[in-house]
Amino acid sequence: MTAEWWRDAVIYQIYPRSFADSTGDGYGDLPGIIEKIPYLAGLGVDAIWMSPFYRSPMADAGYDVADYEEIDPLFGDLSDADRLIATAHAAGLKVVVDLVPNHTSDEHRWFRAAVAAGPGSPEREMYHFHDGRGEHGELPPNNWKSVFGGAGWTRLTSPDGTPEQWYLHLFDVKQPDLDWSTERVREAFDGVLRFWLDRGVDGFRVDVAHGLIKADGLPDFDEEQSLLDGQSGPMWDQDGVHDVYRRWRRILDSYDGDRSLVAEAWVADPKRLALYLRPDEMHTAFNFQFLDNPWDAPSYREVIAATMAADEAVGAPTTWVLSNHDVLRHVSRLGLAEPGSSHEGLGAGDEQPDNVVGLRRARAATLMMLALPGSAYLYQGEELGLPDHTTLPDDLRQDPTWFRSEFTKPGRDGCRVPMPWAAEEPGLGFSPTGRTWLPQPDSYRGLAVDVQDGAPGSTLTLYRAALAARRGLALGSGELAWVPGGESVVAFDNGPVRVMTNVLGAPVELPEGYEVLLSSVPLHGHVLPTDTTVWLTRG
Ligand code: GLC
Repeated sequence: MTAEWWRDAVIYQIYPRSFADSTGDGYGDLPGIIEKIPYLAGLGVDAIWMSPFYRSPMADAGYDVADYEEIDPLFGDLSDADRLIATAHAAGLKVVVDLVPNHTSDEHRWFRAAVAAGPGSPEREMYHFHDGRGEHGELPPNNWKSVFGGAGWTRLTSPDGTPEQWYLHLFDVKQPDLDWSTERVREAFDGVLRFWLDRGVDGFRVDVAHGLIKADGLPDFDEEQSLLDGQSGPMWDQDGVHDVYRRWRRILDSYDGDRSLVAEAWVADPKRLALYLRPDEMHTAFNFQFLDNPWDAPSYREVIAATMAADEAVGAPTTWVLSNHDVLRHVSRLGLAEPGSSHEGLGAGDEQPDNVVGLRRARAATLMMLALPGSAYLYQGEELGLPDHTTLPDDLRQDPTWFRSEFTKPGRDGCRVPMPWAAEEPGLGFSPTGRTWLPQPDSYRGLAVDVQDGAPGSTLTLYRAALAARRGLALGSGELAWVPGGESVVAFDNGPVRVMTNVLGAPVELPEGYEVLLSSVPLHGHVLPTDTTVWLTRG
């Protein structure tokens, strides 16, 4: 890693409830993560990012925060968080925590106080409370919908039963949106940032970073909400958000060390996204265009070039990501008939991905990603080649998307299934009792860590080798130079390495004078078969 570690780091996303359970209740926890720090250091990543572990009623798996300065008892307590940060640091890993500023839980004391204080109070100014439209205020203030489905507004009822004001929630009814035009909200979050910076975290992943500011007057918006498509609309990517990030940057810069901000901003235009990365704002932003890319070579070349050019213009590095807790894992996505297309999760009645084809493509995609200059994000379990659980019984689903879409969108539970650590243990070694909050699919047994550990050709072995080579050759801080490789080949040089990915093409000859350093599947002869990536060095 360079001094500005976030420029080229590989950051591993931990989804705390599904990583490792130390207590046996079937939910992962912070002590479980601490035990696995040596595994993560051994994998060869530079940093961890933890999805929310704060106190929460868990209406959206912790993205509904009831107290930003407390750990949910499900996961442990603040002393566990301190120990986790210290253990990670001692192992040479940076620690990024999730910050959820767009909304709180309706059980947060700020929201409770706002409800109690009544219309017109300063407490209510922290959220978007409005009178309804219609003669008796019976219609919501505008027609916005929730990202998870259904209405984006809910009406309060006062204790005596009379209907009251409405509040905005772009997500679940239990996730009221904060009003970021209010100084009180900004000050409150300054404190949250400082609280975690004081505890030693190296950065924040900023949830829904493009959603904080809503257009003046909250104008109607006729479309269905679709967060993950980089939609534009009066609730997304408003220019006013940048003031918030400038303010936060000043706070981060006032701390020692090199603390960083990464934006979760589903903004489709790379030039608009790059605005978040101007020198006085955030450091990096997830490159969801890359994640969303269909499985074809010309569009990979295009998305890589366009995102790098846009970021370079503001002096920021580009990030790369293929999976996270909100999308179908890339093994499953790339195994669909239209590879790379589905965001809404898959259920037993939907098209089932071909996991063999999907894994082959996923390994190729990962090797392409890890050779690109910039930072890269891995989602827990992708180093094992895990697919989604695509036949999860509907009655076990917990994602609010499933309920709010009236059972039409399965949602994201399939990518959030507990990790398989040991093939022969109950619950595949996830917890000492064998309990798992969601069942693991049968396919996870053969993919467990202890099966793949040290096994030649396993996906885990491939990730370890790729991460070691990437670090050894400093690919993350390298320069990309395109190489002509044919229509269905993505080919580029990064320092001493030539990278070639054959996407859906006929086999191609490897160039003369090069030796194979790594390949996503074993090669036969000096030929690159379809759906394969190689890293070559000059022989
Ligand atoms: C982000 C999170 C997602 C959550 C949503 C609301 O997109 O990644 O999991 O449901 O924000 O907080």
